[in-house]
Formats: sequence, structure tokens, C-alpha cells
Amino acid sequence: MGRDRPGSPAFRNLTPHYRFELRRIPVSCDTGLPEQEPSMDIDSLTSYTRQYWSEAKDTHVADPAYYQLAETQLRGIVERNLASGANVLDIGCGNGEYTRLLAARAQRVLAFDISDSLLAAARARCREFDNTFFLQADVANTKLAFGQQAHAVFCMGLFACLPDDAQVLRLLRDFADYLVNDGLLVLRESTMTGPQQYIRYASGHLGCYRNKQWLLESLRSTGFELQEEIPLKAQFEPFNDYLVLRKRRADQAGAAISDNR
Ligand SMILES: C[S@@+](CC[C@H](N)C(=O)[O-])C[C@H]1O[C@@H](n2cnc3c(N)ncnc32)[C@H](O)[C@@H]1O
Repeated sequence: MGRDRPGSPAFRNLTPHYRFELRRIPVSCDTGLPEQEPSMDIDSLTSYTRQYWSEAKDTHVADPAYYQLAETQLRGIVERNLASGANVLDIGCGNGEYTRLLAARAQRVLAFDISDSLLAAARARCREFDNTFFLQADVANTKLAFGQQAHAVFCMGLFACLPDDAQVLRLLRDFADYLVNDGLLVLRESTMTGPQQYIRYASGHLGCYRNKQWLLESLRSTGFELQEEIPLKAQFEPFNDYLVLRKRRADQAGAAISDNR
């Protein structure tokens, strides 16, 4: 359908620097990084990305038009799905450019991120909102505890920063625990149609791009139902979409699991 596949000339031209599949590291260094690129295991990749993001001052690795489109689409998602009395979590909030949209609509927003610099930018961006609170935390070690469950969880661009599938699966379970029944989960994720790939950009950012079917199936089996899928980048892999999901009520989740046996 006109989509370029990894390995095609168009894909190679647009893909920064090098890529490899985790289970066969190193597979290729196709644009100039040394052949002896270290073959890193999951723990080393996780430490690498954690350090990269702890020190990060900028989240933008794509074209400015992409961020504009992401904002426009998020505005629509918020208008269609977020009630004004909602308690909201923004997980991996970055510099707060999208947290602002949530703060303007929700009753209360708790936003967290691993990077002090990005959090400082987010606090400054959201300073006029007294319903928004920021927290420095590593999602890998943080299970949030609060008196009330959340009505909505927004997690945009985070999974591509987490090399460990097991960590992503744990987070999905955490999100389900945080949310009320029928609660809203909004992801913005970059995925592949083929095997998972890791791409290291010139900035040092390591993008971890999972197979889309794997992600959708993981969401389904954690109890989330896909309501809407909004493509933001559908021309070249990794593709990027908003996934708008609802947490199934416990009785519905039980039925779906037994259907599957
Ligand atoms: C691609 S940026 C997206 C930021 C924001 N959600 C947005 O849509 O612009 C990913 C964010 O996840 C944060 N992050 C990465 N690893 C993290 C971790 N282990 N714990 C908490 N935040 C993390 C980064 O600091 C960064 O702000």
C-alpha cells in the first residue's frame, strides 16, 4: 500500500544511523557507526536509555510538523473523551507541551518524568494551572499510590524509550490498576510491522520500536479495548499512531479472557 519496508532504499535513506534487532545484536550498522558497536543486553540498554533521558533537555527528534499534528489530534481526543471532572495521569510528560492541553480540561493532572530539566520546562509551561502536579520518577521503579483512581492515563512517546518488553507489560498492568472501569488510556507510539527494532539517532536517543500486533495484543490481554487509532506518521517505518483505548470493566475483561481459551 505504498508503505516502504525496512531495508528498502527509501527506508534506508530516511532511517537515521543504524538499526538492529535486539535478539540478533549487532545485525547492521548501515550508516557509519563503527562495526564494533557494542552488543548490549537488555539491562545495559535500559541503563543507557535511563541515563540518556535523565539528562535529556529536549524531546524533539522528528519534523516540527509532526509535533503540530500530534497536538491537533490530541486536542480532538481530549475534547471527545475527557470529562471535565477527570483525574488524569501524564506518564513521561516531557516538557509539558501536551500536559497543558490536559490541564486545561481536567480537574487534576499528575504528570511525571525521569528528567529534571524536562520537568522544569513542564512546570514553567503549566505555571498558570493550579490543578497540575509534577513528580520526578523512573516509571521502571514507580507504582503510583493514590487515594482515588485515575479516569485517564496519557502515555505518549514513552514505550519507545523503554528497551525491556517486560517493563512495558508491567506498565500496562499498572495503567489498568490506576484506572477506573471504562477509564481512558491514550498512547502515542511508534511501531513496526515486522520484528522489533532499535534505532540509535545522532542525538544518542535509542528508539525502541515494537511490533504493532504485539502491542495491540498486549493491550487487549491486559484488559484494554481499542476505540480509535489515529495515524500521525504512516509513510515510513517506524509508523506512529495515537491509540485511544478504554479499560474494560472487570466483568467484560473476564468474558474476553475466557473467550480466548
Ligand atoms: C519521546 S518523549 C515524550 C514526551 C511527552 N510525553 C510528549 O509527548 O512530548 C519521552 C519522555 O519519556 C521520559 N522517560 C523516558 N524514560 C523514562 C523513565 N524510565 N521514567 C520516566 N520517564 C521516562 C523522557 O524523559 C521523555 O520526557
